[in-house]
Formats: sequence, structure tokens, C-alpha cells
Amino acid sequence: MGLRFLRIAVVYLMVGAALGLYMGMTQKFTLAPVHAHLLLLGWASLALAGIVYHLYPAAGATRLAKAHFWIHNLVLPLFMIALAVFLSGNPGAGPVVGLLAIAMLAGLVCLAVNVLVNARAAG
Ligand code: HEM
Ligand code: HEM
Repeated sequence: MGLRFLRIAVVYLMVGAALGLYMGMTQKFTLAPVHAHLLLLGWASLALAGIVYHLYPAAGATRLAKAHFWIHNLVLPLFMIALAVFLSGNPGAGPVVGLLAIAMLAGLVCLAVNVLVNARAAG
């Protein structure tokens, strides 16, 4: 499970860094929050979860770990697309961004509950 998280995390790292490079080259920073969250929710949070599940395999083997993985990776791309649409001057996308942010949070709650309940010392 840990490796699965790490492997998908580096995909977000590549996409997020490419967007950062594009922003720098064009000097257009409208999508900076998309860049920040692709890297922080995509790369940093998923890589950390992967390392946590490697350190605590009992937590990595649970349905909560699977639920987190799928919610996180199904919602994050949609969340980032909706946020990009919103930031590009479409305030109508606001409610969609809000709903996706709540769904994103639901995935993070799975991670949090899993760590609190299922991570065991000496795992
Ligand atoms: C090749 C790699 C990267 C490039 C070229 C890049 C480029 C940029 C640029 C051009 C900005 C906008 C700066 C501004 O608004 O003045 C920015 C902001 C930011 N970057 Fe990156 N970045 C890279 C990697 C990363 C990584 C790995 C992370 C986090 C893990 C990250 C997190 C952020 C954050 C949090 C912001 C602030 C966004 C904001 O102020 O709204 N970046 N980056
Ligand atoms: C459900 C998850 C999350 C939601 C809904 C969320 C939402 C937001 C919002 C509304 C902002 C203000 C953006 C603006 O200035 O226009 C923000 C900024 C920021 N968030 Fe998050 N966030 C989430 C997760 C995270 C995580 C997990 C991290 C770090 C690991 C993070 C790091 C940051 C940073 C560094 C900024 C400031 C950079 C920026 O303005 O773009 N966020 N976030």
C-alpha cells in the first residue's frame, strides 16, 4: 500500500512542478493555488501517507487506507480542474469547488482516523 501511494504521489509531483515551470515562464500566476495544492495534496500528502503505511503496515492493510486512496485520487484531479476553471474567471464553478473540497476532506478524514485507530508501534 505504501508503494502505491508513493508511485501516484510522484505523478502529481511531475504535473505540479510542470505547472510551476509554466507559471514562471509565462509570469502568469493565476493558477498558483492549483500548483500549490497539486503539490501539497498530491505529492506531499500522498507521499507522507505512503511512508506512514510503510512504517505502519497494519494501518496500510485496512479498508480505510483503500478508501483514502480512492477518494483522494478520484477527487483531487476533479478538484484541481474545477479550481482552475474557477480561478480563470468563472465564479459559477464555486459551488462545485466547494463540494469537491468537502469530498477531499472526507478522504483526509479516512487517513486521520486510520492513523489514530490502526497505526501500531513496532509495525
Ligand atoms: C520545478 C519545480 C517548481 C517550480 C518551477 C515552481 C514554481 C512556482 C511558481 C512560479 C510559483 C508562484 C510564485 C509567485 O506567486 O510569485 C510557485 C508557488 C508555490 N509553489 Fe511552486 N514550484 C515548483 C515546485 C514546488 C513544490 C515541489 C512545492 C511543494 C511541495 C511547491 C509549492 C508551492 C507553493 C505552496 C506556492 C505558493 C502558491 C501561492 O503563493 O499561491 N512548488 N511555485
Ligand atoms: C481539503 C483540503 C484542502 C482545502 C479545501 C484547502 C483550501 C485552501 C484555500 C481555500 C486556500 C487559500 C487559497 C488562496 O489564497 O486563494 C489554501 C491555501 C493554502 N493551502 Fe490549502 N487546502 C487543503 C489542503 C491543504 C494541504 C493538505 C496543505 C499542505 C500540505 C495545504 C497548504 C496550503 C498552502 C501552503 C496555502 C497557501 C498557498 C496558496 O495561497 O496557494 N492545503 N488552501
